[in-house]
Amino acid sequence: MATKQKRFILPEDEIPKYWYNIQADMVNKPMPLLNPKTKQPLTAEDLFPIFSKEASRQELNMTDAWIEIPEEVRELYKYYRSTPLVRAYGLEKALGTPAHIYFKNESVSPIGSHKINSALPQVYYCKQEGVTNVTTETGAGQWGAALSYAAKVFGIEAAVYQVKVSYEQKPYRKSIMQTFGAQVTPSPSMSTRAGKDIITRDPNNQGSLGTAISEAVELALTTPNCKYTLGSVLSHVSLHQTVIGLEAEKQMDMQESIQILLLAVSEVDQTLVV
Ligand SMILES: Cc1ncc(COP(=O)(O)O)c(C=O)c1O
Repeated sequence: MATKQKRFILPEDEIPKYWYNIQADMVNKPMPLLNPKTKQPLTAEDLFPIFSKEASRQELNMTDAWIEIPEEVRELYKYYRSTPLVRAYGLEKALGTPAHIYFKNESVSPIGSHKINSALPQVYYCKQEGVTNVTTETGAGQWGAALSYAAKVFGIEAAVYQVKVSYEQKPYRKSIMQTFGAQVTPSPSMSTRAGKDIITRDPNNQGSLGTAISEAVELALTTPNCKYTLGSVLSHVSLHQTVIGLEAEKQMDMQESIQILLLAVSEVDQTLVV
């Protein structure tokens, strides 16, 4: 029986050396973020109290299309990258489509999702800048686990606020974070002013990502040498995730089929990154 190749993997030396910063190539740039105090366009310096300096600069970088992946981060990427590009023959058959469907399987990372692609550089930059503590929020626990892993690898303390209802419903995710040495606190908590205010008004509050973000940002701003990190939404996070698409481009070149549809799938939390 003729067998069909299902997975396409790049050799280690083909793992991208640069991330792609799409902001540099946008003809119509995004509207500037405004400093809530001054209402003036935000500068990287405005973000320095919250994020690492390098993440702050990347956030607002509208000029450099290619940003070098630090060697130390690339070496850590190599433990799980390239992630496989997989031909979804079963899905094609189930759909009865002539299209060739592929997915990029990011679930092979040490913590089971793509979120580690940004946790590693964010914590690396903190370490480079002499930061000793990082903090963040998590919902399901994927991002918290990624940050905890990265913090362990770079020898930094991590404090994670986990939405209370998830903290109670997903004990295994909490255990993973704790195994990597992170301090995990159900949010809202009494450890911050934001948390205290909410619990005082509503003692049975089950938490939300917004509340957990408020607690983590407050901790970063009130703890010496502590920075906040974020696992989605922001431009520098998207920048780090371009490693997925850049690999996929090369993997598509490894075979001659027509390329129709590409999905990056993180199986554990079922996040889709198109
Ligand atoms: C800003 C922000 N923080 C935290 C999370 C929660 O991440 P997780 O479900 O991996 O814990 C998300 C979801 O992607 C998010 O957008």
